[in-house]
Amino acid sequence: MSSAMVFSPLAPATNSKIREIADVYTLVQEDMLAVNAMIMDRLKSDVALINQMGAYIINSGGKRLRPVLSLLSAQAMGYQGKYHINLATIVEFIHTATLLHDDVVDASDLRRGHDTANAIWGNEAAVLVGDFLYSRSFEMMVEVGSMPIMEVLAHATNTIAEGEVMQLLNCHDPDTTEERYLNVIRCKTAKLFEAASRLGGIIAGAPEQHTRQLAEFGMHLGTAFQIVDDVLDYSATPEEIGKNIGDDLAEGKPTLPLIYAMAHGSPDDTTLIRDAIENARRDNIDKVRHAIETTGAIAYTARAAQAEADRALAALEGLPESLHLDALRLLARFSVERNY
Ligand code: IPE
Ligand code: IPE
Ligand code: MG
Ligand code: MG
Repeated sequence: MSSAMVFSPLAPATNSKIREIADVYTLVQEDMLAVNAMIMDRLKSDVALINQMGAYIINSGGKRLRPVLSLLSAQAMGYQGKYHINLATIVEFIHTATLLHDDVVDASDLRRGHDTANAIWGNEAAVLVGDFLYSRSFEMMVEVGSMPIMEVLAHATNTIAEGEVMQLLNCHDPDTTEERYLNVIRCKTAKLFEAASRLGGIIAGAPEQHTRQLAEFGMHLGTAFQIVDDVLDYSATPEEIGKNIGDDLAEGKPTLPLIYAMAHGSPDDTTLIRDAIENARRDNIDKVRHAIETTGAIAYTARAAQAEADRALAALEGLPESLHLDALRLLARFSVERNY
């Protein structure tokens, strides 16, 4: 089953030229070329393995959503300079570092439709090259030379690490509450979306209130994005998302679809899912998927993602209208409608 069939589309927002995700990429096309050039340039190292792994992970694609968010936020605030390219690159480096580490922690074999770095080069190399990307991003922040920007990014990376550790503590715990789950995803995922959009406002010198609105937008967008990611782990196909299905179950991760299905399913459903979480069993995935679908957990989770996307849209109210603002709105829609 594809999630595209599950999520009801938001009402088509506008008569804007920005109608689908491809329009967003077209709008930032030139800047993204500059970002990709900077990514390639700043990946360079004297150590061959770093170049090899860096090129592999960066060239294997990815949606580049966080850099797009920084670019759009800066431009929605009328930014005319060039540092938004640096910020977008920094944000993608941090994201890629978290993915290298996350795939080790989650023992994942497939990312962006290719073998993960840890599957090819081993856990040690993946962790160390993740560290290289993190520290390179900090070198690049220093070059930007803005203490408020340093502060936002230092805080975001620290919070992501806390989120991943909190998630580790929730693993194998079927009594994890929805609140604890939401706290984890706000930290591990939404914080970087929040930082990406906040940075756009800061670099543009936008009024503080506008920067706050952008940050709030990013936070709700990121939360919606991760809720959907957690549904896709059960409802998509590896071809769609470029990742293996059931990785969350294999790690005993109590994500929202499971939390809801345990609370609203039959006693048999609850026993099945509790056992799958406690013992990290992927082998029962078909039964777990069935329970998730029949208890309405997919629909509930879709509504939760939709509510976050609506909050993201509300946060933008009152900001100056522009194509870039329309593109931000479209990202909110994409985050819940996506099936990849
Ligand atoms: C993956 O993020 C990690 C999550 C927060 C779910 P993306 O889905 O944005 O990853 P890429 O960069 O497009 O591969
Ligand atoms: C990713 O969470 C969060 C970070 C990258 C910090 P997930 O573990 O759910 O992401 P995927 O599914 O591996 O992309
Ligand atoms: Mg993972
Ligand atoms: Mg996931």
